[in-house]
This record gives sequence, C-alpha cells and structure tokens, in this order.
Amino acid sequence: MKGESLTLTCTIAIAVFLITLSSTLSFCLALHETPQVEPAIFQVTDENLIPNIPTLNRKFSRNFIHKEFQVFIEKYDKKYSTKEEHMHRLGIFAKNLARAAEHQALDPTAVHGVTQFSDLSEEEFERLYTGVKGGAAAAPRLFDGVGSEAEKLEVDGLPESFDWREKGAVTEVKTQGACGSCWAFSTTGVIEGANFIATGKLLNLSEQQLVDCDHMCDTREKSACDDGCGGGLMTNAYKYLIEAGGLEEESTYPYTGKRDECKFKPDKVAVKVVNFTNIPIDENQVAANLVLRGPLAIGLNAVFMQTYIGGVSCPLICGKRWLNHGVLLVGYGAKGFSILRLGNQPYWIIKNSWGKRWGENGYYRLCRGHGMCGMNTMVSAVATQVY
Ligand SMILES: *[C@@H]1O[C@H](CO)[C@@H](O)[C@H](O)[C@H]1NC(C)=O
Ligand SMILES: *[C@@H]1O[C@H](CO)[C@@H](O)[C@H](O)[C@H]1NC(C)=O
Repeated sequence: MKGESLTLTCTIAIAVFLITLSSTLSFCLALHETPQVEPAIFQVTDENLIPNIPTLNRKFSRNFIHKEFQVFIEKYDKKYSTKEEHMHRLGIFAKNLARAAEHQALDPTAVHGVTQFSDLSEEEFERLYTGVKGGAAAAPRLFDGVGSEAEKLEVDGLPESFDWREKGAVTEVKTQGACGSCWAFSTTGVIEGANFIATGKLLNLSEQQLVDCDHMCDTREKSACDDGCGGGLMTNAYKYLIEAGGLEEESTYPYTGKRDECKFKPDKVAVKVVNFTNIPIDENQVAANLVLRGPLAIGLNAVFMQTYIGGVSCPLICGKRWLNHGVLLVGYGAKGFSILRLGNQPYWIIKNSWGKRWGENGYYRLCRGHGMCGMNTMVSAVATQVY
C-alpha cells in the first residue's frame, strides 16, 4: 500500500475503466460458464420484463432501440434541443443498453437496465460528476490517523436483519445532481443518524455547507482534499466539522448542487461532531457497529450502480480498490430472494443520493459477506456529542 488515497467523487467515471475490463472478463466468463438459465432477463421499464437477451453479443434491433429511447425520454422527461442532439443521445443510449446487458450477465441476482443515466456517455459522466484526485488506486483501508479505529464489538446475538429506516433514523433520499458531492451526502447521513440516536430528533442536515466550506485534506494523502462538486472524503468532512464547530440544517443552508462562497454561520449550528471512528473491514464488525451506533458512512465502487434497477447486486467481479462513491449503510437483511437466479443472498441496504427514482426508491442492495465492491474498506461512524 503506497498510501495513495482517493477522493470520492460520486461518479462512475472510473467505471469506464472497469467496464472495459469487465466486458473483457464477462466475455471470458461467458465462454466457460454454462448457465442453466438464459444469462439475463433484461428489465427495460418498471412493468415489462422484456426482452430476453439470449447472448451477450446480441445486437438490439433499431426498432427496439427507438421504442425504448422513447419510453426513456418520457419516463425521465428528457428534452433535447435539436434533432442532432436527439440522434446523438440515441446513439449513446444504444451503447448503454449493451452495457446494461453486460452488467446483467455479470450480476445476475440484480436487475440492470435503463436508468436516468442512460443517455450519458462515459466521458460525460466523468465530466459531470468527476474530479478524482490521488489517482484511481484507492488504498484498501483508508485510515488517516485522526479519529480512531473502532474497538472490537461482540457479534454474537446480532439481529438477523436490521433496518434503521424503520426506527426513524434516516431522512428521505436526497439528490446530489450533477455534482461530485456524494461524500457530503454520506457525511450528513451518518450525522443525521447519530444525532437521531442521541436526541431522538431527525434533522435534515446541510450538504451545501460541506460543499462550500470544507477544504480539509487527508493527513496522509495531502492531495485528497474536500473540493465541493469535485469530490471529497467523509473522514475529512468530520475533521472539518470538528474544527468549524458543527453542521447547519438543510433549512438554513439549503442544497444548490453548485460550489459557492461559504455562508456558514456558527450560530446556526444544529449538530456538533465530537469524534469519529473507522470501522474494521470485518463485515460482522460493520454489522455490529451499524446496530450499535447507527447508519455508517461507506465508500464503494459504484460501477454497477449506473445500470442498477433493483434486486441484490452481487457481481461476479467488482473491483475492491476502486472506491469512487460515498453512500450510507442503513441496514442489512438475511435473505434477498432473486427471481433471476432462484437464489437467496444476505445483503446490505444502502442509501444513495441519486434521488428516489434511482434503484429501489433511491436504495441499493448489495450482497453481504464478500467485501463486495470494497464496501467494507472505508467505513466510518461519528459521535455527535460527549456522553
Ligand atoms: C427532509 O427534507 C425532505 C425534503 O424537503 C422532506 O420531505 C422531509 O420531511 C425532511 N425530513 C425531516 C426529518 O425534516
Ligand atoms: C474519540 O474516540 C476514541 C475511541 O472511542 C477515544 O479514545 C477518544 O478519547 C475520543 N476522543 C474524543 C475527543 O472524544
């Protein structure tokens, strides 16, 4: 480990790389894997389970692509100003249909298909959401000296399934927009939860304060600094908040999705952060900490999230060292039934910040126990007051 760290940019830009890699790999896998069922049923809209994609290399018919593009435009209320733009988007959309089919083959327990991102090219995704600093090679454990490593907790007797949403510790799913601010949403999420547990009150806290005001850098990787829509790290944000004196509510410092001057007012602070801990990579410890302390901030590799529709995502290959997205772990379940594979998978429940229309009402389920997509390598909790 070269101490090289990364800044979470909330993008699947890095995905570009992995998709290239995974397409190659998926091809290899397809060669020696003889699936009992057709590799995929490709869900295109919420209601229709159409069509079957018999092989990975299937070419979609023009008619099919046009029809699906029309459905997409209506569903997501897309507006293209010129005919040229329309045709350009259609071309990208067609490519993304093929990518979704690849993801489906690699991740058969989830459903992949058209999402609101289906008219964006990989490059645009990178431009709109990116700002990777410190390179793509994330250190697998991003401990940075401040805060401390969580003590080992007892893991026997943990509930079979657990969900902080049912206990009222989780705010509504938010929308980061075309801004690499996932790290700020992950940070507010973990503080909202900790504050709820400490006070019994659920507050919407301000991501915009972090986007505008937090420039904190990682102590080890000096170039990994919080940078508004250009990315950041949750642990940096905790340090900023400890120094700044706390975090305002959404209502006094609302989200705009653009970096602006810092308008933080110390007298508007709603929650103070006093400490934070990094959770060990052991997923049982992650579960124990989740139950004891509340929702946890995590980083993961979001490559499969661009095309995710629902189900338990359990990809055959998902880089663990390519963390590029910050999200909030809110619970776990014992068995997620997957109709596609007739299989059960224990899973994590993850709150994302891409609005409620993405995934399962804004949530992602990722299989548990395999360090999937690096979800166990950057896990943190905060303390919001001294007891
Ligand atoms: C948080 O904000 C959302 C969107 O404005 C709102 O629907 C929700 O009720 C708020 N939640 C709390 C706990 O204030
Ligand atoms: C932060 O937490 C660690 C571990 O729980 C503890 O040792 C340390 O004293 C705490 N620091 C503060 C300032 O509360």
